[in-house]
Amino acid sequence: MHDIILDLDTGIDDALAIACVLSCSSELNLLAVSTTFGNVSTRTSCRNSAALLHHLGCDDIPVVTGLRCPLDSYEVYEATAYQHRIHGENGIGGVDLPPFDECIISEDVVAFYDRILHTHEDVTLVTTGPMTNLAAFLMSRPDRMFSRVVSMGGAVYTDGNITPWAEANIYKDTRAASIVLDSVPNLVLVPLDVTQTLFLSKEETGKWNDGQYRTMTGFYIAFHGGDRCYLHDPTTIAYLAHPQLFKTEMLSLEVVQDGQRKGNLARRQPGNGIDVVVSCNADAVQTFLYDAWKRILC
Ligand code: BDR
Ligand code: CA
Repeated sequence: MHDIILDLDTGIDDALAIACVLSCSSELNLLAVSTTFGNVSTRTSCRNSAALLHHLGCDDIPVVTGLRCPLDSYEVYEATAYQHRIHGENGIGGVDLPPFDECIISEDVVAFYDRILHTHEDVTLVTTGPMTNLAAFLMSRPDRMFSRVVSMGGAVYTDGNITPWAEANIYKDTRAASIVLDSVPNLVLVPLDVTQTLFLSKEETGKWNDGQYRTMTGFYIAFHGGDRCYLHDPTTIAYLAHPQLFKTEMLSLEVVQDGQRKGNLARRQPGNGIDVVVSCNADAVQTFLYDAWKRILC
């Protein structure tokens, strides 16, 4: 059983990751959700995460409000029209879920991580947005660390998705990504190279009884062209549950901080040695994810 914390910019594929984790409760114990900006503002990510947990019948999982802007900025991040096109103005495809703010706790995210690591021995942090909260934690408590960090982010051998060189989660806080890549010893990076080989089809979501999840995912599928969408964030959960289905390479990477290639992961001389997921048994991973969603959404 893995104790995990999800750090999310709750958007639609983040919402799919939540459902997958809850459906795998015999293997994955969700301790908390912390929230960041990206697909939406941190505030909206918080509200969406809490409402989704409530919708899925989990009222007792705390949701912690993370930092509201990248490390190098003082301006509260708000989603742009481009993010609205992908995830909808409310981040969950326009689906109107009843709010459930009771599980949102006011503790500072760094203090919260610290407290959890005091009381739990072996905790995995899964990040599916910019790595700002984790970087802030590393700067403030350099002596403490999660047993493992699994992060959706980056494009290694393939093109980026926010610019030709960069993936969105890395691009939106390059300084945080750099701190994380350089200081987390047990980091597994799950980049576009693998997440863009995995799909969820309209045919599959059509089997779900949960109308809210069906509509929300339909919005995301429509953005991708109408038949199917990528499975960026849920791939982290499949990796956690079944690492044997994935191939990793140990790479030394540095995050380009600015200029045209901002957010690019450049190869460098041996240095930080990160486990990068480069490919997977796509059929088996999709089967795992489809089964997980069927258990909770049908
Ligand atoms: C990542 O960016 C966000 O839009 C998605 O939720 C995912 O985490 C893909 O680049
Ligand atoms: Ca995300």
